[in-house]
Amino acid sequence: MSTTTIRFGRPAERLAEIKPSPIRAIFDKAAALEAAGEKVYHFEIGRPDFDTPQVAKDATAASLERGEVHYGPNAGTTDLRKAIAEYLQARRGTTYDPASEVIVTIGANEAVFLALMAFCGPGDEVIVPVPAWAHYESCIRLTGATPVPVRLDAANNFRLDINAIAAAITPATRMVILCTPNNPTGGVTTRDEIEALAALLEPTDALLMSDEIYADLVYENTEHLSPAAVGSLRERTLVIGGFAKAFAMDGWRLGWLAGPTELITPALRVRQYTTVCAPTFLQPGAAAALREAGPDAEQMRRAFEERRKAGLDILQGIPGITVSQPDGAFYFYLSYSPDIAEPAEQLALRLLDEQRVAVVPGTAFDPHGGTHSIRISYACHIDDLSEGLRRIVQSLTTTTPKGA
Ligand SMILES: Cc1ncc(COP(=O)(O)O)c(C=O)c1O
Repeated sequence: MSTTTIRFGRPAERLAEIKPSPIRAIFDKAAALEAAGEKVYHFEIGRPDFDTPQVAKDATAASLERGEVHYGPNAGTTDLRKAIAEYLQARRGTTYDPASEVIVTIGANEAVFLALMAFCGPGDEVIVPVPAWAHYESCIRLTGATPVPVRLDAANNFRLDINAIAAAITPATRMVILCTPNNPTGGVTTRDEIEALAALLEPTDALLMSDEIYADLVYENTEHLSPAAVGSLRERTLVIGGFAKAFAMDGWRLGWLAGPTELITPALRVRQYTTVCAPTFLQPGAAAALREAGPDAEQMRRAFEERRKAGLDILQGIPGITVSQPDGAFYFYLSYSPDIAEPAEQLALRLLDEQRVAVVPGTAFDPHGGTHSIRISYACHIDDLSEGLRRIVQSLTTTTPKGA
């Protein structure tokens, strides 16, 4: 039996470095507790707890009624591409030709994948400031390229460190990835930082992947700035966007890739031989969301802002705990002194065991630098948030770390 498994079950070489997610143990355990009837405080999930705006559902229902159930254009329906271009113009001040500069993707995930597959391969390096959303590293490895993590400093609020990025650039650098607002830190990259990045990249032929999936989720007076709107960056920038976060449409699996034609055309070639096109009848719903669900999105953003404030009131000012400045997205990235608790993966398991709170250990975003950090998603009911955060604080402040 086992001989058969080895003979046929040998994964491709490219999977050798792609490890199962470190969040798996938490997910599995949380699911088992819930199956046994326990209440679990879900702070591990990176998706809104709201329903999709009705206008999007209605438009998709109407599309189905019209019988729009067949293959569509590889790059997406003409109307949704137009809606995305209009939205980017209105919200970010960037101009894209819907005919040749936008691809509707299957979630922002596919946009990341298409961009990397189109431009990176063996021998190429991709710079990723960390902590970072773990998918980048795995997708980079799937292309055969090498991820080059650039560790950002917790003491400097995980600000983009231009000198560290400069030190990481080599002739093999093919792409730099920027995620603003950031998952997991909630940080928002400033104009000065983007201008410094533009100056740094100017003499190179490196591309910039700008993941702006959280662009509409910024708080207080923070403004999101697309790098594609800064100086000459547009010509080397592939913009990632989507519907999952601001419109609570994560299950729809729709997003986009926008950039100059010469960058979009190779990405479209990858699309032609992988997923072919995004589901046809979902695209009118997505267009309706962009054009008509602004008020719904703003209502959700305000709810996140309220939760963010309630959460910060609980988390700030506690000795041994720091929370990075969460100007955007819907996460708190909490770092704690090794003197007050065990390493993050063990802490996450203990929080679930003792407090029924599920969080993501920082090692999921930076295997070496995230050992004493956890990510807390506040995309949950404000009462659950307050109660769960109190439980976390209690665990962090009253227990002597095992092995300390
Ligand atoms: C930074 C970042 N980019 C992209 C995505 C993928 O979004 P989608 O659900 O649209 O594929 C996520 C999802 O969590 C994310 O956090």
